[in-house]
Amino acid sequence: MRADLALIGFGHVGRRFARLLEERRDWLALDYELDCRVIGIATAHNGCIFRAQGIDAVAAADRQGSDALDADAAAPADSFGVIRRLAGSDSPLKIVVETTTLDIAAGQPAIDHVRAALESGCHVVTANKGPAAFAYEELSALAADRGVSFLFEGAVMDGVPIFNLVRETLPAVDILGFRGVINSTTNHILSAIEDGESFDGALARMQADGIAEADPSLDVDGWDAAAKTAALANVLMRARMTPQAVDREGIEQTTARLAMAAKGRGARVRLVASAKRTAGGVATSVRPIELPESDLLAGLRGVANALILQTDVLGEIAMTQLAGGLTQTAYALLSDLVTVGRRHRQARSGAAPDRSR
Ligand SMILES: NC(=O)c1ccc[n+]([C@@H]2O[C@H](COP(=O)([O-])OP(=O)(O)OC[C@H]3O[C@@H](n4cnc5c(N)ncnc54)[C@H](OP(=O)(O)O)[C@@H]3O)[C@@H](O)[C@H]2O)c1
Repeated sequence: MRADLALIGFGHVGRRFARLLEERRDWLALDYELDCRVIGIATAHNGCIFRAQGIDAVAAADRQGSDALDADAAAPADSFGVIRRLAGSDSPLKIVVETTTLDIAAGQPAIDHVRAALESGCHVVTANKGPAAFAYEELSALAADRGVSFLFEGAVMDGVPIFNLVRETLPAVDILGFRGVINSTTNHILSAIEDGESFDGALARMQADGIAEADPSLDVDGWDAAAKTAALANVLMRARMTPQAVDREGIEQTTARLAMAAKGRGARVRLVASAKRTAGGVATSVRPIELPESDLLAGLRGVANALILQTDVLGEIAMTQLAGGLTQTAYALLSDLVTVGRRHRQARSGAAPDRSR
C-alpha cells in the first residue's frame, strides 16, 4: 500500500527519519506492505518543497542550508501549504511527520500543524512534545472524529515505547502515577558533577553532542521535563494540563553543591519528574530530589533515562533507556508509521477502531 508523507520540520530528527525510512524500506514493504514516499518537506528558514512524484529525501538530508530542498517556483509558501497539498494527493494513506522546534510557552507551531493535518484527513506522527503536552484532549478527539491517527511515541524518552506499551499491552490497567528521570542533559550534568566535573563544563559537552535543547535553559530550568510530564499525565492519566501547571524547579549551581554533599552521604541527587492521582485530579512535579543509592533512579548515570509507572493491577513497571538519541527518536516515528499502516488495514477490513489511550 502506498503511503505519502510530508515532513514538517527537517532538522536533526527529520533528517535522521528520512534516512531511517530508506534504511528500513525493504522491511516496511515485506513485513507491513508499506511503500512510503516523501512528497513534501517544510522548514522555517530554508523553504518548502512538494513533488507529487516523490522527493529524494536522503539527498535533501545530505545537502545543507538553503540549497537543501532544491525548491522551485511552484513550491508551497509554508508548512500549511505543504499539508494542504498532501491532503489533496490521491494516496490512500497520507501522513504528516511533525518535527518542528518546540515553543514551550504555547506548544506551537506543532499544535497548529497537527490540527491542520487531522482536519484535512491526514494521519499525524510526531516527536514534538507540544501537541500532547498542551492539546492532547482536543487533538485526540479530532483524530477520532476524522478517523485518523495522532501518534507521538518519540515525544518522551526517544524510542522507548511508553505510550505504545500502555496502549497495546496494558488493557484495563489504571496508571495511578509515575516517577522518572526523563531529561538527559540534566542527568548528565548531575552525574558529571559527582565525578568532579564543573556544571558549565558538563552542560557545554551536552551542547557539543547535540543532546541539549537549542536553548539549554529549557533543559536546565526543567521545562523539557515539565513538557514530558504534562504529556505523560495527559495521555496515561487523562489529566488536562499544560507544562506550566507542573510544579517545577530546575537545577542550578546550588544543586551541584547539594549533589556533592549527597554523594558524601551515599545518596544521589536526580531531577525527578512525578505524577500522582489525587482527589482533585493529578498532581505533577519536576524537581531535584535526594535519593538513596538503592533507588533505581539514583543509579542512572550520564544520559540514561528511566520511567517507573505505578499501576493498580501490576504494581510498578520500570522502563530504562541507557543511551537515547536521534536514531531512537527517528525509530519512534517509524514505529508510529507502522501503527498507522496497521490501523488503516484493519479499518479497510471492517474491524472496529481501537478507542484506547
Ligand atoms: N533532537 C532530539 O534528540 C530529540 C529527541 C526527542 C524529541 N525531539 C523533538 O523533535 C523536534 C525536532 O527536534 P530537532 O532536534 O530535529 O530540532 P531542529 O534540528 O531544530 O529542527 C527543527 C526543524 O523544524 C523547522 N521548523 C521550525 N519552525 C517551523 C515552522 N513554523 N514551519 C516549518 N518548519 C519549522 C526548522 O526549520 P529551519 O531549519 O529552517 O529553522 C527545522 O528544520 C523538537 O520538537 C524536539 O523537542 C528531539
